[in-house]
Amino acid sequence: MDNWDLTSLQRVLEETVQNTIGEAEKGQVPSYIPELARQEKRRLGVSVCLKDGSVFSAGDAHLPFTLQSISKTFSLMVALCEHGERYVFERVGKEPTGDPFNSIIKLETIKPHKPLNPMINAGAIAVAGMIPGGSVEERLEKIMRLLRKMTGNPDLRVNDEMYQSEKQTADRNRALAYFLKDSRILDGDVEETLDLYFRHCSIEVTTVEVARLAAILAADGYDIASKEQLFPREVARICKTFMVTCGMYNASGEFAIDVGIPAKSGVAGGIMAAVPQRMGLGVFGPALDDKGNSVAGVKLLQKLSDLWDLSIF
Ligand code: DON
Repeated sequence: MDNWDLTSLQRVLEETVQNTIGEAEKGQVPSYIPELARQEKRRLGVSVCLKDGSVFSAGDAHLPFTLQSISKTFSLMVALCEHGERYVFERVGKEPTGDPFNSIIKLETIKPHKPLNPMINAGAIAVAGMIPGGSVEERLEKIMRLLRKMTGNPDLRVNDEMYQSEKQTADRNRALAYFLKDSRILDGDVEETLDLYFRHCSIEVTTVEVARLAAILAADGYDIASKEQLFPREVARICKTFMVTCGMYNASGEFAIDVGIPAKSGVAGGIMAAVPQRMGLGVFGPALDDKGNSVAGVKLLQKLSDLWDLSIF
């Protein structure tokens, strides 16, 4: 369905949100970051950004939430643009883990001790370590600049309460980072790199912005709004491939079969889904399943994928 009847597109989005929001009851908000534990469970929002840049939304599409792991796609993008593929993949692998996103186990058992991929926490911390700059602010600015351009929102910012909340409770991430330092994957100041990681996870967005990010990935880096190629096609290809193989963590296989769209989830309940050459989708639903993905969000994407034949497979 590419000749969109825009009235029916809007109606489908609204109806699908209405008949999917109940799924939220099956999930839980995460408890390991206090600021996320305060979120209301029964929320669901969706935005779709079409090839011409027009955006359609339904439900809780204007509620702000933090990118969390969705931001790992963009720190990877910056690292690839700064250093190229060879440098990046000498320090982080390309394989799915089958383990939870914050697992530490394979870091020690696999040799060399490099994280298996850039979408798990260990891999994303290693990627944060590759982002150059004289200070954390300067390094963060590289990611913010890209995201501001992509979303068209010059006011995009870090949610400071979320950042502080994660920083104060992130002992597992700290353990991963010090292990990476010991294995010579990270060099320099570990606390500064963790700080950069917590901050990029705490960038605040809405589904409208996530749909725009996804649409630019779907268009291989081309931004219809500014008529600019914002990053190389090759970088888009690598990011979308990771989204298929590792974007939904140890549920990526199931998601590929049930939904079939390159996607990246975050523990705040967001999902960014890029349908190549067709559209970008942003979804928000804070109740998560046991793998850390939005329960209602996954269900909603599954319904839209079935309805509009969006699977790439
Ligand atoms: O490091 C963490 O645990 C969070 N800042 C991000 C994890 C996350 O989003 C996992 N996604 N489902």
